[in-house]
Amino acid sequence: MILDISNDQQKYDFTPEIDSFVRNCVKVVLKAESLDVPAEISVVLTDNEFICKLNLNYRGIEAPTDVLSFPQYEMREDIRLSEGDETAALGDIVISLEKADSQAIEYGHDFLTELGFLLVHGMLHLLGYDHETGECNEKLMRSREKHVMENLGLIRGIRRMDADELVFLAQKAKENAYAPYSNFRVGAALLDSLGKIHTGCNIENASLGATNCAERTAIFKAVSYGIRNFEAIAIASDSKDLIFPCGICRQVIAEFGIERIIVSKDDGTFKEYNLEDLLPYSFRGYD
Ligand code: THU
Repeated sequence: MILDISNDQQKYDFTPEIDSFVRNCVKVVLKAESLDVPAEISVVLTDNEFICKLNLNYRGIEAPTDVLSFPQYEMREDIRLSEGDETAALGDIVISLEKADSQAIEYGHDFLTELGFLLVHGMLHLLGYDHETGECNEKLMRSREKHVMENLGLIRGIRRMDADELVFLAQKAKENAYAPYSNFRVGAALLDSLGKIHTGCNIENASLGATNCAERTAIFKAVSYGIRNFEAIAIASDSKDLIFPCGICRQVIAEFGIERIIVSKDDGTFKEYNLEDLLPYSFRGYD
């Protein structure tokens, strides 16, 4: 595959992360679509002003759009190597990073997820799909989009929250700790699989055994709202050392299969563990 990426905008840094993300997305689409000829693709990253001009010229619409595709082949069956060529030039994809950024916020996921979706969409157009040519073709293109997005591990509408952001929310949750007996404040922030955050703090009791830890407060709050699928939990305290969940909380974390456990120090530095690290050979119920 030959991929030419040109960054024609200045509003966002064209980082090596973006470069390799774009390459990977294009590669994954080609693989998912099992294209059997070496392809050549051009991706242009631009801003709203430029894409607005293109949109007016090519579609008669004077408004910025997110992605425009310019396929060289009308149908998938036409894609083949011409004599003397080593690659089949599929065409160009133009994406407004500015629009991708605003749409990511609007849809509640991160920038790369939106950029990934726009690349997948554009690539499918270059491969002959067209959602604007009838209900059947639209359905087909949407199902291919979904399939490739799954292959890329990108889920639209779900925010990929960074661990440091989750630790920050756990620190904020700690402010509500009710810990008059130990004076040890703990906060937890739990990320569910729809991208929502549930926070909790420790709640002590004069009868010490009635105390509830921050992690369990967060988990029980979420479960009481009917939520059972979780991605990660972060824990924060005022300690200079990493705060690890207690044994009971580990058992509850295991119950709901929370795979990522982020433990932090008072200064916000953290380490991430997985469930198996913290509770190996756990009790998972009766057969
Ligand atoms: N604590 C938590 O909230 N989470 C843990 O995983 C460890 C302990 C709380 C319980 C109690 O209020 C205080 O820390 C001291 O044990």
